[in-house]
Amino acid sequence: MNKIIIANWKMSPNTLREAEDLFRMSVGVIVCPPFVYIEELSKIKSGAILGAQDISFSDEPGQTGEMLRQLDVQYVIIGHSERRWKLGESNEVVNRKLKLALAHELTPIVCIGEKSRDTDFQMFLRNQVMSTFAGLSSEQVEKCLITYEPVWAISTITGSRPDTPESAFESIRIIDRVLNSKFKIQNSKLVYLYGGSVTSANVRDFLAMDEISGVLVGGASVNKEEFGKILTIVSEFQL
Ligand code: PGA
Repeated sequence: MNKIIIANWKMSPNTLREAEDLFRMSVGVIVCPPFVYIEELSKIKSGAILGAQDISFSDEPGQTGEMLRQLDVQYVIIGHSERRWKLGESNEVVNRKLKLALAHELTPIVCIGEKSRDTDFQMFLRNQVMSTFAGLSSEQVEKCLITYEPVWAISTITGSRPDTPESAFESIRIIDRVLNSKFKIQNSKLVYLYGGSVTSANVRDFLAMDEISGVLVGGASVNKEEFGKILTIVSEFQL
């Protein structure tokens, strides 16, 4: 299976022209641009795949929120830590969004990760996983791209540093154990990615691990030169 690369552009770039350039070079990448660019980018058929950075919590017409249905989007990030921690999005809201994405046949990119690697982090991960995926069937969990993103490793956080592939794998094992025992998933069919300060200097090490099916790249995905380097390394892993 090819490695999965997700680009979370966050609130960049500043112009549509730059967005189009970045999108054209992102062949085979799931690109999650700011909402304002999605419609224009969907007209470019260059091999990049469109995702969104968030989804509404409700699909009732009377609610204020994102309306992804009319856009040519196949993936959506759900439960990103910037939403969970900076906007106070609870596990319950994340769970509603996850169910809504599945109901509308969008592939959820579900972010899971602890705020700090303290003594309780394993319990924290367990609780977050249990409530994020509550009420789903095993088939629905298998449709998700489960992205381990330790909050402390995200590049915009002061003093952040990437996790190591080995310790990311340890956390992924915890998440996998919880999901497997709750949902009785046969032959561990779940797909795990890593996110948090992925750059051209470390992407090879993460992708080299069989248990890590891909990476979610934030800051480095809107730097044309750096992302070009990342894509060159990624190509070594593609079949
Ligand atoms: P980063 O962002 O790669 O800039 O750390 C990842 C993310 O927040 O999704």
